[in-house]
Amino acid sequence: MPAVAVVGGQWGDEGKGKIVDYLSQNAHIVARYSGGNNAGHTVMNEAGEFKFHLVPSGIFWPQTTCIIGNGVVVDPDVLWQEIQGLAGRGVDVAARLRLSDRAHLIMPYHILLDQLEERSRGRDAIGTTGKGVGPAYVDKTARSGIRVGDLLDLEGLLPRLQAILEYKNKLITRVYDGTPFSVEQVFERCRTWLERLEPFIAPVEMTMRQALEEQRSVLLEGAQGSLLDLDHGTYPYVTSSHPTVGGACIGLGISPRDVTGICGVFKAYSTRVGGGPLPSELNDATGDAIRQRAWEYGTTTGRPRRCGWFDAIAARYSASVNGFTDAILTRLDVLDGFHPVKVCVEYRYDGREMRHFPSSTAQLAHCTPVYEELPGWERPTAGLTRWEELPKEAQRYVARLEELIGSPISLISTGPRRHETIALRSVL
Ligand code: IMP
Repeated sequence: MPAVAVVGGQWGDEGKGKIVDYLSQNAHIVARYSGGNNAGHTVMNEAGEFKFHLVPSGIFWPQTTCIIGNGVVVDPDVLWQEIQGLAGRGVDVAARLRLSDRAHLIMPYHILLDQLEERSRGRDAIGTTGKGVGPAYVDKTARSGIRVGDLLDLEGLLPRLQAILEYKNKLITRVYDGTPFSVEQVFERCRTWLERLEPFIAPVEMTMRQALEEQRSVLLEGAQGSLLDLDHGTYPYVTSSHPTVGGACIGLGISPRDVTGICGVFKAYSTRVGGGPLPSELNDATGDAIRQRAWEYGTTTGRPRRCGWFDAIAARYSASVNGFTDAILTRLDVLDGFHPVKVCVEYRYDGREMRHFPSSTAQLAHCTPVYEELPGWERPTAGLTRWEELPKEAQRYVARLEELIGSPISLISTGPRRHETIALRSVL
């Protein structure tokens, strides 16, 4: 039985939530490996519409154990809200959800610092989600983070928290002129988090290992997208974690040998939210039309997403960084009625053609797209479930993307609901 990773192939918001929910019907474990509540996953199924930021999207299937791995940074208040929301709608979340004791906590000062740092960046702001994700990862790397497991020893935590807050408060007040935190208040919140979350805390690596040894099927759920990866994305306009498949091994404590499938999820066009280059961005009526039709507004922040045509240079780069065994195409239906549909197949930089994704973000910002035009299709694809039902122009578009990405397209999503899916090859 395989461990299959579901990885964002672009700049996030590719529709991974629906895909993970769909694939979870065959999974025993669904494990989230990176990011925090900067992510927003929407799942629509028989039980209704759900928006998650932390809980894995496989939570609705009764046979699953859902894991929040060590690579995730956790805002305990957000997690608690999601747990309560799910429990209130009849999901047996207590039985199904486990939280790694090695995951780091997003503390209240991380959220404030995220906002203060962004403000101080002025015109160079990254456009973060303001949820404290970056500062939490900074502390993890600086070895001054607080982990979920630390809550289990509150007496031991107190002196560490005092020392950390002494430093953070200096930073907040002296550098940013902000309001300091009281140790007592933050410590009280730690106590509340422990009361609420203790039943969920577990050494989840053992659960993962056991499942893999027993040949159970495991789904590794990515957040954000490969082009937002701290190392491989458009630095510094990236998130502070590793959405690429390497992050799945680190973020769950499993071996690369356990990962037998790597699915790159691609939207049929491009979007990006926040700052940083998007070479195929459409600042025109077509871009607006895509945004409105697809309702491209952030699940987490409500910000309008920047929209553009599919960028095959970026997609191929993402495929090479991840080694995708499969590609999954989402939101094909959004392009119904567009004539023609375009795909960026080359960049122009400094008067010359360029077919690779540059490591320099400044260079990428000066790349202009060269498009290949394909005939559009009139007949709606929304909700279709069989390849043969797709208009032949849509089939041609999918086949061309497959060729350009360089990985076989195994699933096509034609709508937000589970059944609105064309399965071409089995993934899990
Ligand atoms: P942060 O992750 O909040 O620090 O934000 C860093 C960058 O990643 C910003 O451009 C965000 O808009 C972007 N980002 C973070 N999470 C997501 C996501 O789930 N979807 C799309 N963009 C995201």
